[in-house]
Order: sequence, then C-alpha cells, then structure tokens
Amino acid sequence: MAAIYDPERVTLIDHPLVQHKLSILRDRATGTKQFRDLVGELALFEGYEATRDLPLENVEIETPVRRASCRQLSGKKLAIVPILRAGLGMVDGLLELVPSARVGHIGMSRDEVTHRPHEYYCKLPGDIAERVCLVVDPMLATGGSAVAALEYLRRQGARDVRFLCIVAAPEGLRALQAADSAVRIFACAIDEGLNENAYIVPGLGDAGDRIFGTL
Ligand code: PRP
Ligand code: URA
Repeated sequence: MAAIYDPERVTLIDHPLVQHKLSILRDRATGTKQFRDLVGELALFEGYEATRDLPLENVEIETPVRRASCRQLSGKKLAIVPILRAGLGMVDGLLELVPSARVGHIGMSRDEVTHRPHEYYCKLPGDIAERVCLVVDPMLATGGSAVAALEYLRRQGARDVRFLCIVAAPEGLRALQAADSAVRIFACAIDEGLNENAYIVPGLGDAGDRIFGTL
C-alpha cells in the first residue's frame, strides 16, 4: 500500500496546544462562537509553521543601547486564499500573523450526492505569481475541492503554493499530492478515513456549518 504522505511535503503539526484545541473543536458540544475562535487560533499556529522558511535579510537597527545587526523579512509577499465558505474561518488568524497579506477567494461547494466540487466564485490578487500563496480550508476530505482550487491557482500563474487544513483524510492527502507535485501541505491531524457521505471520520462534522452556525 502506498504511504499516506511524503514527509518532505506534508507537515503534521503535533504541538500540544494544537492537539488540545483540536480536541475541543471536534467535540459536538462546542458551540459556534468557541468553534470559530478555535479555527482562527489553529490557523495562526499553522501559519507560523507554513511561513518558517520565508527569506530574511540583514538590517542595521539603532537600539536604545547601541547599533545592532538584525534580521527582517526580505520583502516576500503573501496571499491568503480561503476556499469558501469554511476557509474564511482561518483568514483572520493568519492576518494576525501577516497583516499586510492580500486575500484572494475561491468559492467551491461540494455536491451532496456526487461529492464533486462546483466552482462558483474566484477572485485573486493580480500579482499572484509573485506571492507565497497560503490556501486555507479546515477540511481535506476526498481532496476534490483542494485539487480544483490548486488547479485554478496554477492556471492563474501561482508558483509557491502551500495548503493549510486542520483535519485531513488519507484519501484527500493522497489525491492532493498526486494532483500537484509541488504543493506543501500542513495539517493538525490525519484522521482514519471517510464515511459513506465522504465525511471525515472521526473528523469534526461540517466545518462551514459549525463556523457560521448554519447547522
Ligand atoms: C467542505 C470543506 C471543503 C470540502 C472538503 O466545504 O470546507 O471545502 O468540503 O471536501 P472534499 O475534500 O471532499 O472536497 P463544502 O463544500 O461543504 O462547502 P462550505 O465550506 O460552504 O460548507
Ligand atoms: N466537509 C466538511 O466540512 N467536513 C467533512 O468531514 C468533509 C467535508
């Protein structure tokens, strides 16, 4: 059987705070406000890992004590690209980390019967090819939505693309790695698999409905 993921391309975020927050997120008793807050917090943790390799340059700073040689980001630009709707829940957490990032949107809705994604809205920054793109969606289930979103981004010229989800199914991880040989993937958990409705098991239910209270 093929390995679920290539450790060079997939980062599992196993920090204790992340795992603790994820357990609360999974709990069916967790209400909308807390769920939304936790999705934002987990996105911030993931963003920290996903931006770990951003290039730095030297700068000279005058501290109150003396001159010092310091490091700052060397002007690499970022775009946060949520897959609507549920991906919207991760945007504010990432903007706390990178306030100057631009935000693009990709609207995808999964057909309840076929489980295939339907694209309904796309708007990206014009200079997407020059930006590090953080594509965000809490759930990677069959992988259909993520694969379609990445195909769209690649057609628009995006080169450096990183996909951040909270819960991934092995099926979705395999599909995304097979469809896009360059994307790097970040997840807080890899669950057992999918049920007959293509929901992640044990998962956390319908992320969009839980974020927006539309259950
Ligand atoms: C959910 C989720 C992903 C997709 C994952 O969105 O947020 O986008 O399903 O499933 P897949 O990997 O099998 O494609 P949904 O289509 O339910 O839309 P929503 O975010 O508007 O609720
Ligand atoms: N979309 C969700 O929101 N949850 C799942 O488990 C699968 C797809």
